[in-house]
Amino acid sequence: MKYEDFEVLKSECTACTKCGLCQTRTNVVFGVGKEDARIMLVGEGPGENEDLQGEPFVGKAGQLLDKYLQVIGLSRHTNVYIANIVKCRPPQNRDPKEDEQELCMDWLRAQTRLVKPDIIVCLGRIAAQKLISPDFKVTRQHGEFIKKGNMLFMGTFHPAALLRNPLNKPDALSDFQALRDKINELNINI
Ligand code: URA
Ligand code: SF4
Repeated sequence: MKYEDFEVLKSECTACTKCGLCQTRTNVVFGVGKEDARIMLVGEGPGENEDLQGEPFVGKAGQLLDKYLQVIGLSRHTNVYIANIVKCRPPQNRDPKEDEQELCMDWLRAQTRLVKPDIIVCLGRIAAQKLISPDFKVTRQHGEFIKKGNMLFMGTFHPAALLRNPLNKPDALSDFQALRDKINELNINI
């Protein structure tokens, strides 16, 4: 289905019962940010705080993400759009299953068609493997820009993984700096 209006898309998505995750969610976590942003970030799926508040990346991992964005002059309040591969929290924060991801991707595709970003940043393995390539390895390929159609994709560490493994934080920061360099290089008007 082709959506031309964010509000229509959002209201249909927030009523979605296409996969089993609808049974245990509190809120559908649709997405947040500027609806015509040049930069879009995609995570894996809501955690506990996101499920309770209905907004992506609002827990500890989200605070870290907001910090990295701030360093390069980006923010969910002004110039980026943030969404997830699956919109409902998987129980106990397990990885979303392949069929759940596939069913939910229709919503993300519709969002992407409306936002029309120049660059999509995949936060973590699940998003990078779904959007860039099924064998994407974050440790080896983080920070690389890959052209697909008229968009650039880049995969980086998931902020929750950085909280568990802070040794990767400098690499993550340089990925965000590479994002800023790319924005400047391409003269993207954010
Ligand atoms: N982790 C994600 O992948 N997405 C969120 O929205 C929050 C945590
Ligand atoms: Fe629908 Fe996605 Fe939620 Fe599944 S995870 S019920 S497909 S919105």
